[in-house]
Amino acid sequence: MSQKQSIKVAVIGVGNCFSALYQGFEYYREHGEDNIPGIMFADIGGYRTSDIKVVAAFDVDPRKVGKPVGEAIFAAPNCARMFQKDVPAGPVVQMGNTLDGVSDYMLEQPEDLGFRVSKAKSVDVVKVLKESGADILINYLPVGSQEATEFYAQAAIDAGVAFLNCIPVFIASDPKWEQKFIDAGLPLIGDDMRSQLGASVVSQVMQELAFDRGMEVDFHQQINIGGNTDFNNMMVQTRLASKKKSKENVIRAQNDIRGIEVPEHSLFAGPSTYIPYLKDNKVAYFNLRFRGFGDAPVTMDIKLSVQDSENSAGVVIDAIRYLKVARELGVVGALRGPSAWTQKTPPEQMMYADAKLECKALAKRELTAGVKRQVKA
Ligand SMILES: NC(=O)c1ccc[n+]([C@@H]2O[C@H](COP(=O)([O-])OP(=O)(O)OC[C@H]3O[C@@H](n4cnc5c(N)ncnc54)[C@H](O)[C@@H]3O)[C@@H](O)[C@H]2O)c1
Repeated sequence: MSQKQSIKVAVIGVGNCFSALYQGFEYYREHGEDNIPGIMFADIGGYRTSDIKVVAAFDVDPRKVGKPVGEAIFAAPNCARMFQKDVPAGPVVQMGNTLDGVSDYMLEQPEDLGFRVSKAKSVDVVKVLKESGADILINYLPVGSQEATEFYAQAAIDAGVAFLNCIPVFIASDPKWEQKFIDAGLPLIGDDMRSQLGASVVSQVMQELAFDRGMEVDFHQQINIGGNTDFNNMMVQTRLASKKKSKENVIRAQNDIRGIEVPEHSLFAGPSTYIPYLKDNKVAYFNLRFRGFGDAPVTMDIKLSVQDSENSAGVVIDAIRYLKVARELGVVGALRGPSAWTQKTPPEQMMYADAKLECKALAKRELTAGVKRQVKA
C-alpha cells in the first residue's frame, strides 16, 4: 500500500471551481487537516488533502494559458473568493483543445464576464499527461462541452489516467464510455458534481424525507441563480439541457429507487438566470408541495445561499482520494458509491445512506460486494 505517495492530479479548466480547490489545498495545509469544514473524512485510505499535488493544467483562455496555476486561478473572468492569497506557483497552464468548450455567446461577453481563446497551438494532451505522471484528470469544462469532454476523456484513457468528470456531459453514466475505461483498467467518477451542501443534496434529502414519512410529493421546485461564468455560460439554452436533466435526475432518482411514478410537470430543477452582481454567490429557492394524512396539504419553502465554487471543492478532494484508493485496489469502471455521493448523475443512483456507507467502506479500503465485482481480474 503506497500511503506515502502523493496523488498527482491534472485539471481541465482553470476556472472558479479549480480556484477554490487549489486555494483549499494550501489553506488546509496551513490550518491543519483534522477538521476540514466541507469534507467528510480527513483520511481516505491513508490519504489526506496535503497528499494531493497538481502536476498539469489545461485551459484555452489567454489570461490563463502560459501562467503558473497559482496566478491563473485569480485571472479574470474568475470571481471565486480569494480566501488563500499565498498559493504555490504550481505548473504552467498549457493550451488545451478548444473544440466546443467556448461558445460564441461567451466570446461576445465583456472581458470580465466572458471567455477568450488564445492563439497558442494546442499541446499534445496525452503526452503532457504521461510526462506529468498524473494519476487523475479532473474535468471542469463549461457546461455543454460535449466534444471537448469526449476528447479529454479519451486522452485520459490513452494516457492511462483515471477520470473525474465534474460536469454534466454523460461519461461515467454512459455504459459505452464506462466500458472504455474498464478496458483500459481505469476507474472513473461522474457525472456532474454535487456540492457539499448544495441544492442537489438538499433536494435529495427533502424528497427522501417526504417519502420516508409517508407523504405524497405533488411538486418539487429548485430554482438556482448565480453570477459566475458557469451561470453566464448556461444562458445559452442549447448548452443548458444536460445540466437541467442532471439536476432533475437527483430528485427523480429517489422516486425511481422506490418505484414511485414521477407525474408530468411535478418537478423543476435547473439554473434559472444569471445575475452578475451575485458573482460566485449562488442562491437556490425550493418550493415543495406534499400531501399527508387525509390528503392534507403541506408546503415547504427553503432558501439556500452558498459560495458556489468553494462549496464544490470538498467533494472533489474526496473524489480524488476515492479514485486513488480504487486504482490501488484494482477497481475499474465507474465507482458506484463515490459517484452517487459526489455527483448528480452517477451510473447508479442510491439513497443517501447507502451511498455514504459505500464511501465509508472504500475510505477504509474495504470492498463491498458491489465493488468486489469491479476489481480487475
Ligand atoms: N458548485 C459548482 O460550482 C459546480 C457544481 C457542479 C458542477 N459544476 C460544473 O463544473 C464546471 C466548472 O465550473 P466553473 O465554475 O469552474 O466554470 P468556469 O466557467 O469558471 O471555468 C471553466 C474554464 O474552462 C476553460 N475552458 C473552456 N474550454 C476549454 C477547453 N476546451 N479546454 C480547456 N479549458 C477550457 C475556460 O477558459 C474556464 O477557465 C462547470 O461545467 C460547472 O457546471 C460546478
